[in-house]
Amino acid sequence: TVITNIATLVTNDPSLGRGLPRSGTSGSGGDSPLGLVQDAAVVIDGDRIAWIGESRKAPATDNRVDAGGRTVIPGFVDSHSHLVFAGDRTEEFNARMSGRPYSAGGIRTTVAATRAATDAELEANLTRYLAEALRQGTTTLETKSGYGLTVADEARALRIAARHTDEVTYLGAHIVPPDYAEDPAGYVELVTGEMLRACAPHARWIDVFCEKGAFDGDQARAILTAGKARGLHPRIHANQLTHGPGVQLAVELDAASADHCTHLTDADVDALASGTTVATLLPGAEFSTRAPWPDARRLLDAGVTVALSTDCNPGSSFTSSMPFCIALAVRDMGMTPDEAVWAATEGGARALRRDDVGRLTPGARADLVVLDAPSHVHLAYRPGVPLVAQVWRKGVREV
Ligand code: NIG
Ligand code: FE
Repeated sequence: TVITNIATLVTNDPSLGRGLPRSGTSGSGGDSPLGLVQDAAVVIDGDRIAWIGESRKAPATDNRVDAGGRTVIPGFVDSHSHLVFAGDRTEEFNARMSGRPYSAGGIRTTVAATRAATDAELEANLTRYLAEALRQGTTTLETKSGYGLTVADEARALRIAARHTDEVTYLGAHIVPPDYAEDPAGYVELVTGEMLRACAPHARWIDVFCEKGAFDGDQARAILTAGKARGLHPRIHANQLTHGPGVQLAVELDAASADHCTHLTDADVDALASGTTVATLLPGAEFSTRAPWPDARRLLDAGVTVALSTDCNPGSSFTSSMPFCIALAVRDMGMTPDEAVWAATEGGARALRRDDVGRLTPGARADLVVLDAPSHVHLAYRPGVPLVAQVWRKGVREV
């Protein structure tokens, strides 16, 4: 298949554009991180990209698709979501919008609903949210357990998730469940012992909610270290609601990503800049909890790699829309449109330590989005408008 007549092609290949985002620069001046090609074509062979270049140089083929002068970007990589759950939390959201603050406690409501659901109900919910995300351009999606919090309920969440994505995360340490309220140490023992043994075969990652009211730094270190010993790679919910040890712990353990990063000290920013841990920002959570925005500009200026993801979950961020997150990040977090689009594609891939998605280069997976817009900037410029016209995943048109 050859897709021709692409007005703007976002490749995320620095050799085709003018380089990656430079640290120490601010605003939109000059360099695009996106490796833009104008009047472009893409050749797809099977599930992979075979060729990228100017439309007039594209090889002849019978199977031509005319993009009609629109924009093509890599499929979004949503590296943080919580989609194995039942029920919703409309009432909690309503109360919050009349002034009640967000706290980790609401997670218990979803834990109760999730434990009560059948496997089929959980899978039907997951499938529905995955389809919703795909329609909005997400072609790679990480998702977690964390609403079961028993050995059997965590393991089944991961089993169900693994039927739909390779990027599955064990989050037995989301909160201490009510049944262990009097014995948090016993719960950490369970999460690092029997529950880990049951869950590790179904997951690639291990995560901890490191926060006041959830797990402290020492507990988080013990949990992630136990996961690593079982072959899981760490990522952390860090510094979401308050300052805390999560970000520095993530760097210490070489976690692929520290997620949220809303409350950061200079030492946290320095730690991220010195390591390979990606800072994954989740603006849907700040939007839906009326919390202060994470300062993406500060991180980018310090040279930190930033990813954007939805955090889609029924409590703090019930959106599956990467375009919405891009618009928020540009409007309120100091990112340029180029930086935000990069963070939602290549940034997400880096947060998952993947080099086959998030970019459109020969050999990469043929996951791409056709935008009904003359450039990717419209994702931020036209917030809330359904610009996603086509979605191709593994070389097949899905939307
Ligand atoms: O990433 N912070 C912890 N977990 C989720 C919220 C989960 C919930 O409220 O159900 C988050 O925001
Ligand atoms: Fe989360």
